[in-house]
Amino acid sequence: MKKTVLVTGVAGFIGFHLARRLLREGHHVVGIDEVNDYYDPHLKEARLYVLTHPNFKLYRDSLENKMAVTRVFEKRSPDIVVNLAAQAGVRYSLENPDAYIQSNIVGFLNILEACRNFPVEQLIYASSSSVYGSNQKMPFSEQHPVDHPLSLYAASKKANELMAHTYSHLFGLKTTGLRFFSVYGPWGRPDMALYKFTEAIIKGEPIDVYNYGQMARDFTYVDDVIESIVRLMDIQPFADEEFDYHDPLPDRSDVPFRVYNVGNHSPVQLMDFIRIIEKKLGKRAIVNELPLQPGDVPESFADSSELYGAIDFQPQTPIEQGVHEFIDWYITYHHALKEGIE
Ligand SMILES: NC(=O)c1ccc[n+]([C@@H]2O[C@H](COP(=O)([O-])OP(=O)(O)OC[C@H]3O[C@@H](n4cnc5c(N)ncnc54)[C@H](O)[C@@H]3O)[C@@H](O)[C@H]2O)c1
Repeated sequence: MKKTVLVTGVAGFIGFHLARRLLREGHHVVGIDEVNDYYDPHLKEARLYVLTHPNFKLYRDSLENKMAVTRVFEKRSPDIVVNLAAQAGVRYSLENPDAYIQSNIVGFLNILEACRNFPVEQLIYASSSSVYGSNQKMPFSEQHPVDHPLSLYAASKKANELMAHTYSHLFGLKTTGLRFFSVYGPWGRPDMALYKFTEAIIKGEPIDVYNYGQMARDFTYVDDVIESIVRLMDIQPFADEEFDYHDPLPDRSDVPFRVYNVGNHSPVQLMDFIRIIEKKLGKRAIVNELPLQPGDVPESFADSSELYGAIDFQPQTPIEQGVHEFIDWYITYHHALKEGIE
């Protein structure tokens, strides 16, 4: 059945891919994005240009603007809400903590309130693998405690999960939180490693490699993330009838609340990642080794079995394939930009 889906953060990396897929499938997409300049807004505008479609309606608003958010719900009556707008990035949360409280806490509250006042089938929202903080037990499972965040970004995402549970409990709002693990792919974010490394290697500039290269990330290809979201849209979280408050599991409840890892369950060593980019570009990187950055974790590794159990799918695109897709897009996009400017 065709639905009206509200996608917040629709000019962003994941929001763009989700909206494009939904439009292709014949759904109506209502987007909210303030199109901020955390990274090059031209990239966001280019994504929005690609989304031009009679079934796509964009609202250039901030989630913090409660009136504006309310108006969108009032006017468009979304069936499903996918909240992807947020101040992303671990390192930037040390520089500008206020942005995280505004977008990720105040903004998320406005989304919850709107879902309360204008009932929707369900709210799916972005959490993050960063909630695992200083956990060292691998792979990260939704059953592990997530009470030791290392950055305000991580704390804001954990707060979102707690806020969602409260609204599931108080108002029966069906909520599904997704802990994304280092999402990458075409149209990706310029503040993330793959984009930065590709750009620097092409230009012959050095790349910053943290923790002296002793890092691993569970890189997850964006199409796999979108497939997971689309499948989850069809299965609503339900109250677990066997939920036991004497032995409570952290990812479920006796109310319609769930949290899933969305990761490739196959961590890649940072130096191997760099080798894959070098091979595709046919050029060596100049490596600038640095210590681990405050707020960062040395490794991420998702146990995605819960997700697989729910939707019969889990991310699995091989890193070589995903990196190749990204670099092909990067070269085409930057070539087109240059052509447009000249
Ligand atoms: N990309 C990843 O690897 C990753 C990993 C874990 C979690 N996440 C989460 O997934 C979501 C999407 O991430 P992304 O990579 O697409 O990020 P992104 O920065 O590309 O997209 C976020 C979009 O939201 C918009 N936005 C930010 N604050 C806003 C506000 N207050 N009001 C309205 N619009 C606002 C931005 O302009 C941007 O276009 C975010 O919640 C992010 O924290 C992403």
